[in-house]
Amino acid sequence: MVQTGKGTRTNNQDGVRETITVTDNRTGREYELDITDGTVRARDFRQLKAYEGDFGLMVYDPGFANTASCRSAITHINGEQGILEYRGYPIEELAQRSSFLETAYLLIHGDLPGAGALEAWTEEIRMHTYLHESMKQMMEAFQYDAHPMGMFVGSVAAMSTFYRDAKNVNDPQSRHDQTIRLIAKVPTIAAFSYRHNLGKPYVYPDNDLSYVGNFLSMLWKMSEPQYKPNPTLEKAIDVLFILHADHEQNCSTNAMRSVGSSEVDPYSATAAAAAALYGPLHGGANEAVIRMLTEIGDKSRVPQFVKHVKSGEGLLWGFGHRIYKSYDPRAAIIKRTADEVFEMTGPNPLLEIALELERIALEDEYFIERKLYPNVDFYSGIIYQALGFPVDIFPVLFAIPRTVGWLAQWREMIEDPEQKIARPRQVFVGPERRAYVPIERR
Ligand SMILES: CC(C)(COP(=O)(O)OP(=O)(O)OC[C@H]1O[C@@H](n2cnc3c(N)ncnc32)[C@H](O)[C@@H]1OP(=O)(O)O)[C@@H](O)C(=O)NCCC(=O)NCCS
Repeated sequence: MVQTGKGTRTNNQDGVRETITVTDNRTGREYELDITDGTVRARDFRQLKAYEGDFGLMVYDPGFANTASCRSAITHINGEQGILEYRGYPIEELAQRSSFLETAYLLIHGDLPGAGALEAWTEEIRMHTYLHESMKQMMEAFQYDAHPMGMFVGSVAAMSTFYRDAKNVNDPQSRHDQTIRLIAKVPTIAAFSYRHNLGKPYVYPDNDLSYVGNFLSMLWKMSEPQYKPNPTLEKAIDVLFILHADHEQNCSTNAMRSVGSSEVDPYSATAAAAAALYGPLHGGANEAVIRMLTEIGDKSRVPQFVKHVKSGEGLLWGFGHRIYKSYDPRAAIIKRTADEVFEMTGPNPLLEIALELERIALEDEYFIERKLYPNVDFYSGIIYQALGFPVDIFPVLFAIPRTVGWLAQWREMIEDPEQKIARPRQVFVGPERRAYVPIERR
């Protein structure tokens, strides 16, 4: 037997060795590999060689479906039980009792702030909401009907040209400065993108308002001297921001960590993460939900639509999740928030269809067997639509709070001595070496 790993074998509390023995049937050799926190090190497989000079065994995992890329202390999800926690705090409690900026502090720093720390944090963010005038002019140069998410991605990337100190990613002070700037300025970029798309003049930040209140002012203020945000609306957006702040190693967070691992500045890495979020499989599902509900058109047509989904002719958008195999806890909170918003805005006709769809699907064997439950996107689009947001802005509304999660994950990655530049291996399946053929002989 060949011993591997770090040398000292660990026993669990029942005295059982935390290792796995692998037999390589090509050579008959056995290897004992360490198991740590329910994982084996992919690198340990490299010693399995079929012959002298063999590169060694690799693991193949498209889409990282079963690969842990990091050790993280930020967000915990238990998909079977529908649990989501930030730094150990259940999402339900944070949504009910915390605020977005307090949750942002928790995600970035690891603990809830005391009153003084929260005040200082809020004040620092409040002081950095303005964009450089050249940034504003740059945004004005976008095509009149530019997609707001494209504007968001491009503008966040452009910020690296304004803050040249951002490249000092190994300097904790620089990491702090860019963290504050990004959290403070993404609502401004988002609101400018929205106003641009509507052909309306940009509204400068109003630092007398709350984080969300100021965002709403930049979106909707017209000629009034000061915009007064509706408290129900302000609270609803604050809750939605808390729910979207982090979700461990999803596609955009992986992009943030992967791009950031080259030690590029955090603006460039955040732009890459936002670009990942732009894709319909990630940040765009709530738009698909709206399209689906509009197409169904009436509650009476729901059974027919479900039949159509079951026969494999389409998806029930907003249902199912790679990790959650029970009710997405965020969907349950959003559903409650929707009730409060609709009391104010009047009901959204799509809500009735959504509720009927959920009722029928949750009683249907097809969905029960496959553990398909509503996810975060099932109700979020309906709220955004009721608030008058066009679908193009949906991913931007997601990107604002997720910037906090991206930054928390980026900082953890930079501070983790075990992390290296992300550089996966490949299984080469192309042609073998061959000679160049001159064009007249092809
Ligand atoms: C989120 C999602 C990509 C997860 O996919 P996944 O974990 O790879 O699960 P799978 O695609 O393997 O699905 C397992 C089974 O459930 C079915 N299924 C999954 N989601 C479904 C949906 N929304 N509607 C109908 N059937 C669905 C699949 O067809 C598959 O059926 P099969 O076993 O008969 O082939 C998938 O559920 C989906 O496409 N949902 C709709 C899009 C969406 O709401 N995305 C937002 C996620 S937050």
